Amino acid sequence: MKLRGLFCCTLMGTLAVVASQGQSRSASSVSASDIPHLQKHGTATQLIVDGKPFLALAGELLNNSATSVEHMKPLWPKIAAAKFNTVLTGVSWAQIEPQEGKFDFNVLDGVVRDARSHNLRLVLLWFGSWKNGNSSYPPDWLKRDFDRFPRAQIAGGGGAGGQSIELLSPVSSATCDADARAFAALMRHVKAVDGQQHTVIMIQVENEIGMQKDTRDRSPAANRAYEGPAPKELMDYLQAHKDTLIPEFRQMWEAAGFKTSGTWEEVFGKGVVADDVFMAWNFARHVGRVAAAGKAEYPLPMYVNAAPDNFNSRRGNQPRRGQSVAPRDDLMDVWRAAAPAIDILSPDVYADGANFAAMCAGYNRSGNPLFIPETGGGPSAAPRALYAFGRHDAIGFSPFGIDRPDRLGNTPDLTGVYDILSQMAPLVLDHQGNGTMSAVLLGPKDPPQKVQLGNYTLEVTYWPIRYTMPLLMPGEPPPGAQPTAGALFIATGPDEFYAVGSGVKVTFSPSTPGPPFAGLGTVEEGTFVNGRWVPGIRLAGDDTGQGADLFELQRQLGIQRFTLYRYR
Ligand code: DGJ
Repeated sequence: MKLRGLFCCTLMGTLAVVASQGQSRSASSVSASDIPHLQKHGTATQLIVDGKPFLALAGELLNNSATSVEHMKPLWPKIAAAKFNTVLTGVSWAQIEPQEGKFDFNVLDGVVRDARSHNLRLVLLWFGSWKNGNSSYPPDWLKRDFDRFPRAQIAGGGGAGGQSIELLSPVSSATCDADARAFAALMRHVKAVDGQQHTVIMIQVENEIGMQKDTRDRSPAANRAYEGPAPKELMDYLQAHKDTLIPEFRQMWEAAGFKTSGTWEEVFGKGVVADDVFMAWNFARHVGRVAAAGKAEYPLPMYVNAAPDNFNSRRGNQPRRGQSVAPRDDLMDVWRAAAPAIDILSPDVYADGANFAAMCAGYNRSGNPLFIPETGGGPSAAPRALYAFGRHDAIGFSPFGIDRPDRLGNTPDLTGVYDILSQMAPLVLDHQGNGTMSAVLLGPKDPPQKVQLGNYTLEVTYWPIRYTMPLLMPGEPPPGAQPTAGALFIATGPDEFYAVGSGVKVTFSPSTPGPPFAGLGTVEEGTFVNGRWVPGIRLAGDDTGQGADLFELQRQLGIQRFTLYRYR
């Protein structure tokens, strides 16, 4: 398995690259290096919180849970007990700006205060103009004034444009200005109440942006923009980055002749490709301005999230269904050109197994770090988390809807893996981005996977012994089906390793010249306490397949330290 092919050094947006520790100073004198920021570590990008790399062992609340401080009160202790260290929560535009220009942050203050008192970090999700391809979170005063804040339109409806839908048009500068003003007010307030404590570590701008029921906005203003020239900024960017563009995007541009000017259709070809790029540009332009206005107040790392699961049928001129996805991985270059203030394009991945791995690879390329704001829960969340952190140096992993009554306090697998990852965080963070860590994700039908680490090839086979199936959750396998399995491996020396995971069997062979056989030396289970390895049971015989493999890794989730040796 090729460990470090994905990265080249073109990074999007403004990635702060300063490592100093935050000292206690007044909010106004806080420098970018003191506040949470992104930083390169080898080929990886890490989130730095309070001067140290941070692994976001996260979970996202249901959309509206944090609109009531009282509603959240009984949930915080349970969330903390389930080993989450970060909570993703929505901030409703309508709730913070009930009247134009009048802001109310009381609820947000309560949420930040209570999360902080449970030693939890927050990622705030700005539910502004767009949410899931709709506009349900803008304030009423804005939604009612549809002349000033126009809707997007779909084909039909008989008029000059089309038929309005409940989506604010992405070509409206009035809507963009209002959104940017509200978001800037939010960031100014977060800095004022949290600029020193850093409970809030990252911001998501809007949510699953896209268009429903048509491939582009057909409002009169959008039609005029669509019939006009493709923007010079975009064309300048494409020409300047022609050799490093995302391959699928480059092919789309090449298919239309690599034109450097002309209308959208002239440059990108007739049909939905031009529609996709046109919409991605306009959504990204708006989001970029909103993010820049927020960063001018308080430059926390900012990302947008995408719903890739349902865009398999979206590449090229294929028919469409459901919501379009503006922050698609193959349109990353459009987002870089239009929204440099956005640091990361993030996938919400509800898929499992190989599809999960494909989505991670699609977004974790060309310098875009992996942060997964939403994913499914259930037994396979644990191996997916190990895969994201170990294989893609993820900044964070976050199942959705963690506060659902049937879920909170009832996710033993995820809690187990988060407990282990919180113990191992220093080691994992140390090994991100330098080729000494990897991970696998295996479904029942998947062939064994090979991992090159140190001087050895690890062959990892799907081999679960026994699983108990707690409550069924959306997307979870039916009783009796074998869930996904996975493991993370770290080489801490040429012959010394750590492994975390369950449901797999691991065998070894040398991968460099020398004695041809590999054997298991010392194998021990254990834990990390304050970053220090504390061995427990020492394994051999039955527990190592009589020396043939890491048997125990099959049975239950745990950490194993093991050494390998070679012989002839
Ligand atoms: C993805 C969205 O981003 C979430 O806010 C929520 O609507 C989930 N889908 C529901 O499954």
